[in-house]
Amino acid sequence: MDQLDQLVAQAETDFAAAVDGAALETAKARYLGKAGSLTELLKGLGKLDPEARKSAGAEINKAKAAIEALLNARRDALQQAALEAQLAAEALDVTLPGRGAGVGGLHPVVRTLERVEQLFRSIGFDVAEGPEIETDFYNFTALNTPANHPARSMHDTFYLENGEGVMLRTHTSPVQIRAMQAHVEAYKDCDTMPELRVIAPGRVYRVDSDATHSPMFHQVEGLWVGESVSFADLKGVVADFLRSFFESNDLQVRFRPSFFPFTEPSAEIDVAFMSGALKGRWLEIAGCGMVHPNVLRFGGIDPERYTGFAFGMGPDRLTMLRYGVNDLRLFFEGDLRFLGQFR
Ligand code: DAH
Repeated sequence: MDQLDQLVAQAETDFAAAVDGAALETAKARYLGKAGSLTELLKGLGKLDPEARKSAGAEINKAKAAIEALLNARRDALQQAALEAQLAAEALDVTLPGRGAGVGGLHPVVRTLERVEQLFRSIGFDVAEGPEIETDFYNFTALNTPANHPARSMHDTFYLENGEGVMLRTHTSPVQIRAMQAHVEAYKDCDTMPELRVIAPGRVYRVDSDATHSPMFHQVEGLWVGESVSFADLKGVVADFLRSFFESNDLQVRFRPSFFPFTEPSAEIDVAFMSGALKGRWLEIAGCGMVHPNVLRFGGIDPERYTGFAFGMGPDRLTMLRYGVNDLRLFFEGDLRFLGQFR
């Protein structure tokens, strides 16, 4: 039956044109569905006489079986194609290099602070701390800094809006007072007070921002109070520290007369390297001096009996010198391309 062969051929073309399962089901309905061509033909068999019905029925069923076989073949092909597409889309290239787990590292300034602490601990210093939000009393008054001192200007520090006499500390020097008070308190029932030796590393704040100044920076305060502490002790401790810190004897240390309200006499500490890129240049790295009698008194210590030296140095500066960094702001921008170089 010509018509049946044509129908099978037509179905084959239709199925081949179906690009997915849904399209294939629609195509199937046109032939095998309730109103499909083959179904209609089968329905028409009733009108034939028995002899003709038998042979026509057999032909139609043969065509139906052929169409069903084509349908199944196409279904399998579509499923296979879908699977292959999915596998291709989800393919993993196991030969690609891994992303790896990033390894963190300590911030270069933190490395310096740890190094400073370790060196001072080795000569009997404790590490003391004080609050970053400090009172006027500890930040200025107790440090012999009178109310009209320029360091108290609104422009030199960050005052808290609703806190009377409360500000972000401008230096670590207030920890000197806190440490003295705590020390005196700890030994108040003893005849003699042991020496007080502390360093106080921490963050400090000022209204300042350029290549060598940041509104937040670090300081390390040092304080040594005892019965016969002299300027010579100060010089020895600082010079030894600097040579250890920079791992070099090829380094000169100079004490240049200066002024600080909380020390008398006062000096600025400069270093010069005798070799390398910075050869021969004097660089300021700290302020220091003999603790002013008024400051000892504010700390609760008798200046007739005890003397002390103090210094305040810039660990950010020390870090710049040690690693050859020329812009202080790099330390505080959090740029991993910069920080990653110190791991
Ligand atoms: N506090 C001073 C500043 O921030 C630095 C300083 C100078 C600290 C002399 C000291 C000192 O302990 O004796 O500029």
